[in-house]
Amino acid sequence: MTFVLFGATGDLAKRKIFPALYNLFMDGKMPDSFSIVGVGRREWSDQTFQSHVEESVHTFSRRIINDASNMKTFLQAFRYSPLDVTKSDEYQSLLETVQQQEKNLSIPENRLFYLSVSPEFVDAITSNIKQSGLGTVKGWKRLIVEKPFGHDLTSARELNEKLSRTFEEEEMYRIDHYLGKPMVQNLESLVYTNPLLRAIWNKDHIVNVQITASEVVGVEERAGYYDRAGAIRDMVQNHMLQMVMMTAMQISKKGAEEVNDEKRKVMESLRPLQKEDVAANVIRGQYGPGEIKGEPVTAYENEPGVSPSSKNDTFIAARLWIDNDFWAGVPFYIRTGKRMQEKSTRIVVEFKNPLSAETAPNRLTIDISPSEGVSLQLNMKNPLNNQIEPVSIDFSANAKDVPEAYELLLFGALRGDPTFFAHWKEVELSWEWVQPILDAFEEDLVPLHLYRSGSMGPEASYQLLQEDGFKWLDHE
Ligand code: BG6
Repeated sequence: MTFVLFGATGDLAKRKIFPALYNLFMDGKMPDSFSIVGVGRREWSDQTFQSHVEESVHTFSRRIINDASNMKTFLQAFRYSPLDVTKSDEYQSLLETVQQQEKNLSIPENRLFYLSVSPEFVDAITSNIKQSGLGTVKGWKRLIVEKPFGHDLTSARELNEKLSRTFEEEEMYRIDHYLGKPMVQNLESLVYTNPLLRAIWNKDHIVNVQITASEVVGVEERAGYYDRAGAIRDMVQNHMLQMVMMTAMQISKKGAEEVNDEKRKVMESLRPLQKEDVAANVIRGQYGPGEIKGEPVTAYENEPGVSPSSKNDTFIAARLWIDNDFWAGVPFYIRTGKRMQEKSTRIVVEFKNPLSAETAPNRLTIDISPSEGVSLQLNMKNPLNNQIEPVSIDFSANAKDVPEAYELLLFGALRGDPTFFAHWKEVELSWEWVQPILDAFEEDLVPLHLYRSGSMGPEASYQLLQEDGFKWLDHE
């Protein structure tokens, strides 16, 4: 297998891709013979590239590196090909490098192209892969593409149409790195392998589902992108909706096809919002000044690169309805934002409580990050005071041993297993659902609530749940 990495000198490659490849290699999960060809604009030699890879693995790998000979073998697989991706005639030398390695190492013609580049280059690269012959193989070819997948419904469709000229849908692996998180992947198994949960995973037993992805960081150095994207495109259209799909899907067998179908069905049942209904169901927020871990931090509008009159959303909360037999009448609440009180991604499922209000409802909490675990809240009599009290039955993984999202994702693409990638239909349906929200924001039909940095978002997001008689179940 040949792994051709466009954007090889970039940040994602350094932080995530090289360390993931190294850990897969150390776990014996790379094919017997493989070559990795890095593509970038800089005029690097193979040696410079290999040193860069080595350094990035040392800095970012979850595994401690104390074995020089394995590292040497790993690095030998790396070659570098300088290329201006917009210039068709330069692809010949890339093709030669790929073929040379295939010949020298007797590698079958299986080629995995990874685009870790700015979206404006994606079209040029894929059409040049086709034209240059890089995409003409005796074995298989696959494409891994990073988000953002479009800026709105129209641009996502255009992009997909362009990519389809070179790659079939089955050959495309669209990364949503939340689908690589071990506890998100676990959602497939959790309900499926527990008859106990399967029996109650529906509207008869569940009153609401809450999905939160809160971050402590602000916009950082990404204002150029983020001020145009907002939390709605950056987190909701992809990661949050993927988590909704993974939680709500009802699979009756395991495997990519089933997961894919059931996720699509969730999206097809998601009640569409009309532009006029957005304000009643979606809370738009932007962080104001505040404190993070005792340190004062500035408001979004004062961040470098942000336009001072920006109405960009750094926080979104929303109420979603899945109008199918399983979930009719059960609200799914999602919430995500920057500069919030804690970094935490979690799903809380609240069960119906036909007992008196003094008895706490049962709850299942799935912690996705930074800690990984599952806990079930039940009620027990405390032998010390004879009172009924909620207790929690917890499982938590040992974070050190858990593979990184990118390891699981790359391993999936190497094996040709599309289970945890975003398929076109899901992406398109997600954009369809999000589009009226984008339009309503654009036309300013939805109030922009300022929230204090270091809080859990604007008061309006609490009111959203109060309207239905619920509250956000935050960490206590
Ligand atoms: C990325 C977004 O997709 O996900 C970032 O572009 C965000 O803005 C990040 O910070 C969050 O990912 P994680 O894995 O840290 O929860």
